[in-house]
Amino acid sequence: SEALPQGYKIRSLRRTDYDTGFLDCLRVLTTVGEISEQQWLDQYDWFTKRDGSYYILVVEDDKSKVVGCGTLVVERKFIHNLGVVGHIEDIAVAKDQQGKKLGLRIIQALDYIAAKVGCYKSILDCSDANEGFYVKCGFRRAGLEMAHYY
Ligand code: ACO
Repeated sequence: SEALPQGYKIRSLRRTDYDTGFLDCLRVLTTVGEISEQQWLDQYDWFTKRDGSYYILVVEDDKSKVVGCGTLVVERKFIHNLGVVGHIEDIAVAKDQQGKKLGLRIIQALDYIAAKVGCYKSILDCSDANEGFYVKCGFRRAGLEMAHYY
């Protein structure tokens, strides 16, 4: 089915999501650190000023707790006739909510936005352990990730 579980919703991240579960959701993915409420607001406002470049979606459960999240970054290019590429980032579902298709729904929603804003493709980096999930979401292995840490 194309539906979220009963009472669940998918929506854009809000300025009021500091303590609604979003940051804990990201902690499933990696280190987040201790972010103060002021730092949160400043970062949120930075994203707001870049309207059209960042789409951060969250899934909230039937108790309005954020239990899943994902980001689409929209990159504009000169190549491919001013092509637009979507970058899927920071997909995470709370441990006790995994396996309910929330991850799939987040990807589908980000894909919908990507196509709508004119992306000709969306790309992402993931571990080998997550390849199967993204294949189920319609992605295929393409290329090799490299990183340079500073
Ligand atoms: N390997 C193979 N198949 C998988 C995997 C996996 N690791 N995870 C889920 N699937 C399958 C499911 O079985 C399901 O298949 P089905 O349709 O045949 O039943 C399908 O993929 C959809 O699964 P969902 O229920 O939507 O997956 P879930 O909501 O649990 O979310 C996610 C998957 C996001 C990977 C979650 O497990 C998670 O948050 N993991 C920890 C954080 C993480 O690794 N995030 C991804 C980082 S990569 C990035 O952000 C670009």
